[in-house]
Amino acid sequence: MERYMIKGGRPLVGDVEVNGAKNAALGLLAGAIMTDDDVIIDNLPDVSDINVLLQAIEGIGAKVERIDPHTVKINGSAITNLSLDYGYIKKIRASYYLLGALLGKYHHAEVALPGGCAIGTRPIDQHIKGFRALGANVDIEYGMICTEAERLTGSHIFFDVVSVGATINVMLASVMAEGKTILENVAKEPHIVDVANFLNSMGANIKGAGTDVITIRGVQKLHGTEYTVIPDQIEAGTFMCAAAITGGDVTIHNVIPKHLEATGSKLVEMGCHVIARGDSIRVFRTEPLRDAKVKTQVYPGFPTDMQPQIAATLALSGGTSIVTESIFENRFKYVDELNRMGANIKVEGNTAIIKGMGHLSGTIVSSPDLRAGAALVIAGLAADGFTQVDDIVYILRGYERFDEKLRGLGACIEVAKTEHDIKKFKLRFASPVA
Ligand code: EPZ
Repeated sequence: MERYMIKGGRPLVGDVEVNGAKNAALGLLAGAIMTDDDVIIDNLPDVSDINVLLQAIEGIGAKVERIDPHTVKINGSAITNLSLDYGYIKKIRASYYLLGALLGKYHHAEVALPGGCAIGTRPIDQHIKGFRALGANVDIEYGMICTEAERLTGSHIFFDVVSVGATINVMLASVMAEGKTILENVAKEPHIVDVANFLNSMGANIKGAGTDVITIRGVQKLHGTEYTVIPDQIEAGTFMCAAAITGGDVTIHNVIPKHLEATGSKLVEMGCHVIARGDSIRVFRTEPLRDAKVKTQVYPGFPTDMQPQIAATLALSGGTSIVTESIFENRFKYVDELNRMGANIKVEGNTAIIKGMGHLSGTIVSSPDLRAGAALVIAGLAADGFTQVDDIVYILRGYERFDEKLRGLGACIEVAKTEHDIKKFKLRFASPVA
């Protein structure tokens, strides 16, 4: 089992570049199969979630050619199999975007029902509501979602819950439906806009992505395109917190500062300096971290995917902070691990009360999920002594070369595969880091 070994105490300093947005890329890859022409997508993050979805796309018969680790050519003309088995969905829930894409193109799709995961039950009732509104039959039996339609007809759909996944999935299903589809109470995240822009570059007619109402006029067919994924604002936000928690000075490149406003303004509230310039953002701190109140919201509010990382940073601040998770029902699993590092956090319902201790100490911790794992890594960077972060397979789902990028900023972090690697790391960094 792979784990990170970290020796904390060194402020992160320097420059780092983020990769493409995983949660945008997953929607783009599904949409790419909706034409029989070649589609080239670049600035893909080289992470396991992307690689698994590419395997799933190949598994249904599409041609997938990896031009380089960040660029792929997809051709959906030879798709023969419209059914995706549980193996892929178990590995990556977002395989369910193939439901919308296959339904939209072939009027038929079968995808295994995704389970819940570490952060909540994560139902897909809004996805199904959208497909049915477009005229598709949707049956769930034997753990499979089977959907088919004689024809897909534009509809006026009001989502009961603001859902990134449902917004993207129903957008995919409606781009070639007959007539006009209006989607209301939609998600407005940057990745929604990216998927809409991508589909429009294929000849779709989508307006209003990023606002509360998306209007889609169905087109006969989609054509090939070449498209670049937007930068990952959650990867960027994670490095912003890493700079804040270690008292460093980091400039993050290849970002869209607009997407980082909620995270940036919270770090300013906590006593950091955040300076956006062009496609980079600099975070540094000259005074102790202050406490703050955080409530996760749909975009443009504070992102739920940054909740564990900001909580870890607040654990080091003075005063008492409150973090409220309003999107998922179970996204505080990392708190027990942080408390084992000397944090003082109490969870009551969907709120964490964080008594800043000004100090964390290293120990062995385990990543309960992707963003929680990243939070434990940045806590280890600021903790005294050694931190061993186990189960980093979750972190590798969404962070490309995470340890390498952190080492580039001066962090003492390495992947350890064996007990011997752990011993070697501890010997090499036995003395206090300069
Ligand atoms: C996407 O998940 C992201 N994943 C998540 O990021 C992110 O946390 C989430 O959006 C919120 O921003 C991908 O994009 C692959 P939702 P998704 O549908 O689409 C409820 C990460 O760390 N809901 O917006 O599954 C749901 O239970 C991952 O990269 C319904 O009730 O999230 C939740 O409470 C973790 N019915 C809320 O909506 C539905 O049909 C928001 O979920 C769908 C969702």
